[in-house]
Amino acid sequence: MGFLADSVNRISPSQTIGMATKARELQAKGRDVISLSAGEPDFDTPDNIKAAAIAAIGKGYTKYTAVDGIPELKSAIKSKFRRENGLDYDTGQISVGTGGKQVLFNALVATINPGDEVIIPAPYWVSYPDIVRFAGGVPVVIDTRLEDGFKLRPQALETAITAKTKWFIFNSPSNPTGAAYRHGDLKKLTDVLMRHPHVWVLSDDIYEHLVYDDFRFVTPAAVEPGLYERTLTMNGVSKAYCMTGWRIGYGAGPAALIKAMAKLQSQSTSNPSSISQWAAVEALNGPQDFIAANNKVFKERRDLAVSMLNQAAGLSCPSPEGAFYVYPSCAGAIGRKGPSGKVIGNDEDFVGALLDAEGVAAVHGAAFGSSPFFRISYATATPALVDACERIQRFCAGLRA
Ligand SMILES: Cc1ncc(COP(=O)(O)O)c(C=O)c1O
Repeated sequence: MGFLADSVNRISPSQTIGMATKARELQAKGRDVISLSAGEPDFDTPDNIKAAAIAAIGKGYTKYTAVDGIPELKSAIKSKFRRENGLDYDTGQISVGTGGKQVLFNALVATINPGDEVIIPAPYWVSYPDIVRFAGGVPVVIDTRLEDGFKLRPQALETAITAKTKWFIFNSPSNPTGAAYRHGDLKKLTDVLMRHPHVWVLSDDIYEHLVYDDFRFVTPAAVEPGLYERTLTMNGVSKAYCMTGWRIGYGAGPAALIKAMAKLQSQSTSNPSSISQWAAVEALNGPQDFIAANNKVFKERRDLAVSMLNQAAGLSCPSPEGAFYVYPSCAGAIGRKGPSGKVIGNDEDFVGALLDAEGVAAVHGAAFGSSPFFRISYATATPALVDACERIQRFCAGLRA
């Protein structure tokens, strides 16, 4: 349609949101559907955080605020970076937006000129390439391999960098694979980046707290202080604090970038919700012990999902160290016939047939730039997760040559 802008025609709707919506629609029609498609914890927001929001309303903190965050929240974020990441930022180096997504959007749209390249390791979070395309940039996707635990090889990063590279987007723990980089892995990547001073780093740390076993989270600007001046470290309260609907994310980096992001936000959404900002102050400054309690449950579910999926015919599922996703290969199911008699030609066919036959909603790997895989979110009540994995096993067992 000629009326629409080229920038909008270059992007597609989020496929993860699409699958979650489809699952909700089927449920509303009365179908027995278990949705493993949404990227959000099933746990409720902790009570102390809710109480802080209610108190904020009571105090009349219901008006416009500073565009990119109230000083109290910026101060809480500053303390968080110091306490948890060993990073020092001034208030002028911190930006608060309506979710981490807006912070990423602001950063990319504020910096990308037509033709600028942005390196994105695949499988990637669905929004990265689309935001880059919207901004007029060129996503340069580098594949990672299951054998490498879906982690980027330093040589692959080196090869992808050109004179036009503007940003390298780094996401650990990763959505969709859960792959998480330890200090040694990350240092090898930061060493490459140190050789290319024109490349900026956008580190999406939103799953920082969702790590299991003995994993210790690290972020690029802390692993390599030489990158501090060209890194935007992004994070938010959505995942670890079970606050997806509150819409608060933040980023920290060089003041000139933060100022440009605030300028853009001042002409789009203005400040994030005043009430949510006060809730986020409590989230960051208040008790943190529920995170470990939630992680214990997430780890049990991860182990359960990995074990059950590896028992399904034709699937192979690595055990990741972070986030709340697993990303099994369905290579063994490709070319076989589903219950309807239709051949499963790719991972999109696989998740479509699984939804039709067993009412399990997952997201196909092609949406994340890597096939033949699918993503399952195990941020779902444990009995429903077990039920879903049993259905997947039954579905795979029923596939015919
Ligand atoms: C990797 C990644 N980054 C950023 C976000 C954005 O989170 P929010 O906008 O809810 O803060 C998400 C949400 O799914 C994500 O998975």
